[in-house]
Amino acid sequence: MRILIIGSGGREHALAWKLKQSPEVDEIFVAPGNGGTASPARNLPVSDSDVPGLVALAREHGIDFVVPGPELPLTLGVVDAMTEAGIPCFGPSAACARLEGSKAFAKEIMQAAGVPTAACGVFSDKESARAFAAEHGAPLVIKADGLAAGKGVVIAMTMQEIDAALDDMFSGRFGAAGETVLMEEFLRGEEVSLLCFCDGESALPLPSAQDHKAAFDGDKGPNTGGMGAYSPAPVLPDADLGRMADLTVRPVLREMARRGTPFKGILYAGLMITDNGPKVLEYNVRFGDPECQPLLMRLDEDLIGLMRACVDGTLAGRTLRLKPQAALGVVLAAAGYPGSYLKGMEISGIHSAERLASVCVFQAGTRREGDKVFANGGRVLCVTALGEDLADAQKHAYEAMNCISMPDSFYRRDIGAKGLKRLREVK
Ligand code: AMP
Ligand code: GLY
Repeated sequence: MRILIIGSGGREHALAWKLKQSPEVDEIFVAPGNGGTASPARNLPVSDSDVPGLVALAREHGIDFVVPGPELPLTLGVVDAMTEAGIPCFGPSAACARLEGSKAFAKEIMQAAGVPTAACGVFSDKESARAFAAEHGAPLVIKADGLAAGKGVVIAMTMQEIDAALDDMFSGRFGAAGETVLMEEFLRGEEVSLLCFCDGESALPLPSAQDHKAAFDGDKGPNTGGMGAYSPAPVLPDADLGRMADLTVRPVLREMARRGTPFKGILYAGLMITDNGPKVLEYNVRFGDPECQPLLMRLDEDLIGLMRACVDGTLAGRTLRLKPQAALGVVLAAAGYPGSYLKGMEISGIHSAERLASVCVFQAGTRREGDKVFANGGRVLCVTALGEDLADAQKHAYEAMNCISMPDSFYRRDIGAKGLKRLREVK
């Protein structure tokens, strides 16, 4: 089988690493890929947003199965286009990818499906948004409707911050993504990610994972794409996965099917576990990055078989085989990220890190020249390790990170800390 993976992040490196282990897979191509995907796979220089270019590429290379990583090609309809070309493609149609592409649409689906979520108003002009804020008061969470690369959410704790956020959202800075704005009740609690394989009708949950969105230790600093992740997250134990999927994922599958647009692929519910139970903050329609890296290290079966079952609608009755260990990944980022950052720094020590037992270094913003690797993006790589438990996985991941050096870089030292604290409290 010949596979085409779309994207260039750490998630796509992890997908290539995992798919390469399948006896059914002969060759993997990644468009456009990164310094890390160049060796288990072959990189091809086509952008992840060029849907016609990707279809042409898949035809040219005789691709049997396509795996898009990021949300952009999904919202642009890459699954529809590949399917039309007769090439099976893992993921949701454009109609379903709106669950991530439009927060107002996701809210409408959650309300229709009876999924617990924050109370919310949807506005297309500043005056009515201001009137809503005056009525409800601070704090409020203000969100641009469309894709804004993680920058479209503001937690406004005061009326001044609400005003400033509305000025910013309606300033046109987010283009069409900011023409509609959501104002949401502020929720307190611990966040966790629930990802499910979906085949249009059935949902098969992966174990829980926890992302670390803030740039710095102690959840300080600006939000990023994610600075590290681990699985399982003690806040959502394995025993509760089925019940949580019943509450937050399966009703959405039923609602999407009822509308004639059944959801296939990964449905990722971003949850806040509050004192009043779980609430859905958002849906993503793909693997999270970096959640994918620890999750795939724990998956103890052939990924391509699961993906095909989603596309073919044959997931019902399947269970997942998982390694009993925990996994934890730490992201190394370029100084300045998530703002403007430096590029071109040489990275050393990747091989020494990879020689440690149960460690994978998944590359993201990297470029390879001969046997040298250089930084080429904000999130540069994700060092991921398995361990007997969360503490052990954390220890191995940081030992491996210690082998790696790169000028003008930083990483969080507290990935996993929240989970370990919860485990200590339970004891
Ligand atoms: P979203 O893209 O909607 O998941 O929002 C990005 C981040 O903003 C989330 O991961 C949360 O940390 C935070 N957030 C979003 N909505 C809320 C809310 N209603 N209450 C508190 N925090 C929120
Ligand atoms: N790590 C969060 C995301 O992939 O959206």
